[in-house]
Amino acid sequence: MTISDSLKRIEFLREEITRHNYLYYILDSPEISDAEYDRYMRELEDLEKRFPELITPDSPTQRVGAPPLEEFGTVRHTIPMISLQNAFTEEEAREFDAKVKRFLHTTHEIEYVAEPKIDGLAIELVYEDGIFTVGSTRGDGETGENVTRNLRTIKTIPLKLFKPKSGAIPRKLEVRGEVYMKLGDFNRLNKKREAAGGPLFANPRNASAGSIRQLDSTITADRPLDIFCYGIGVMEGPKVSTHWEILETLKSLGFKVNPLIKRCKNIEEALTFHKEIEEKRESLDYEIDGVVLKVNSLRLQEELGEISRSPRWAIAYKFPPRQETTRVINIEVGVGRTGALTPVAIMEPVEVGGVTVSRATLHNQDEIDRKDVRIGDSVVIQRAGDVIPEVVMVVTSKRTGHEKSYVMPDRCPSCGAHVVKEEVVWRCPNVSCPAQVKESIRHFASKGGMDIEGLGYKHIEQMVDKGAIKDSADIYYLIKNDILGLERFADKSAQNIIDSIEKSRNTTLPRLIYSLGIRDVGEHTAKLLTKEFGTIDALGAAKYDDLIKIREVGPEVAKSILAFFAEERNLKLIDKLIKGGITYEAEKTNKGGPLEGKTFVFTGALKGFTRDEAESLVESKGGRPTSSVSKKTDYVVAGEEAGSKLDKARELGVKVITEEEFASLTRS
Ligand code: IVH
Repeated sequence: MTISDSLKRIEFLREEITRHNYLYYILDSPEISDAEYDRYMRELEDLEKRFPELITPDSPTQRVGAPPLEEFGTVRHTIPMISLQNAFTEEEAREFDAKVKRFLHTTHEIEYVAEPKIDGLAIELVYEDGIFTVGSTRGDGETGENVTRNLRTIKTIPLKLFKPKSGAIPRKLEVRGEVYMKLGDFNRLNKKREAAGGPLFANPRNASAGSIRQLDSTITADRPLDIFCYGIGVMEGPKVSTHWEILETLKSLGFKVNPLIKRCKNIEEALTFHKEIEEKRESLDYEIDGVVLKVNSLRLQEELGEISRSPRWAIAYKFPPRQETTRVINIEVGVGRTGALTPVAIMEPVEVGGVTVSRATLHNQDEIDRKDVRIGDSVVIQRAGDVIPEVVMVVTSKRTGHEKSYVMPDRCPSCGAHVVKEEVVWRCPNVSCPAQVKESIRHFASKGGMDIEGLGYKHIEQMVDKGAIKDSADIYYLIKNDILGLERFADKSAQNIIDSIEKSRNTTLPRLIYSLGIRDVGEHTAKLLTKEFGTIDALGAAKYDDLIKIREVGPEVAKSILAFFAEERNLKLIDKLIKGGITYEAEKTNKGGPLEGKTFVFTGALKGFTRDEAESLVESKGGRPTSSVSKKTDYVVAGEEAGSKLDKARELGVKVITEEEFASLTRS
């Protein structure tokens, strides 16, 4: 091959690889197999080895490779990277809109672009004639650090821009965006660090910032970073008049722009969008801390200008934070229904995610040691959705030297039995331990279980302490007089409890299974077991092989179920419950539902449902949601920005339907 042939081939390969990178990483819909991609990449590497003079910085082979730096240089941003003012309530967001209108002397509605506010690290990327030249952190807004080499390692950052269908590549372009880490990647990274004995990152934002600020770019290359681009500094070339057009331009040049952006006619639509995104927050695989509202018209943006280093034309309408800092006042040990002892940090109350929190789990002694949590420490705590708040890390810089280390007692704090240590879990082995009994009754009566309304932990505690009940089944043998004997019970409240107990007698099999408190069997597994076995007796008679063949039931769960039914005590309890008048619908599968026997795969963002809601809906109508497309899939439901699953469906000839068609199927 002549050098000119080689050059042609090299150029072809670079273009193809860049295009496939884009299809794979940004559109999530690869056109070629990984093996084919690797072949292209290897061929390019070989050619570049033979002709090193043909290597250019925008070649896909050039993402990593330079030796570590001594320190970062600095980069002055052509246009300062200013930050946003915050709104924390709907009222404040409306006030922002009102101010915009006042400033513009208008009563007309203002069009906004609403975007998720990504919780990561702000960066700027500079392109000259379509080639990535410099990348920097925000720094103090005027000057940032030169982290070009590290940013080059992020596969979703183009090294060379696409030529858009209409118009040319901007001669100079400064793009702004947020580097972040997906939650799954973050958890995997922390697990790896834990296994290696390294310090953990408190959250994906810290992990992203830590990864970008590495002097050795090979370390950054190993970190699963990603980016969403949301704005520009200088752009020479394309004529745009709205922020929406800027985002469209960025997309067409090959940048990754968040698919959950919305053009809103007025502030009302923007507020609704904020609510929708807040609901979706839990199901996203990256962290967001609010929604940014931006006046869409660039002319109006210019007119509005800035005030105290923030634009008047944008606002960050924040969600309640999920992490907070507070102080550990004490550490107590709780005993769960299976006897597991859990250390709990008792803390100065603090609001996290809209809820006041004063207790957070420390999981076990290993975790206390690993995080080195001491009484008196300032700690970062976090809560997400319904998850129990947990202590993430200690703020060691706030230590005074008066903090006290903590070791869990080796006797059960409830019954005094010697604790048995099973790997990281410490357990009280006494099955009649009052704490265990109370906890299993609490679980039994809980919402997901027998759902005995009004029977709270305080009541259960008294009933057990006074000997009125010894196990869950005893509840169904209580008479009003037993309850009247307890503190703070009048005739009416006692009758209410008796009525709730009565009401709960007629239940469903998933509730009954869940209420038994079988280790590893939550509400979801209880439903699976119901579908498979139909009666409690059939479940009790199940063999290991019967259990393991159920999708989603693994060896651990199967063993826990077998162990439960192997205990005479538990069989007696079930018997006592049935004799106590419990009835349940023998079979609570959703046979006969409109989606019976059909499997569904969801891809892309749905508008009307979260992924969980859509999947539960399928189940409730008798169908089965699955995660990957195969020939056996009946329907692929394609939302916005549907990815590779959609291509796979088309390839296999699987029926693809829209969200609306799906909704109407569930109603038929
Ligand atoms: S716009 C002048 N859009 O939030 C406008 N910022 O203070 C500047 N952020 O550090 C920012 N997602 O890194 C904008 N969709 C988004 C964003 C976003 C995250 C970060 C940004 C900045 C901070 C705002």
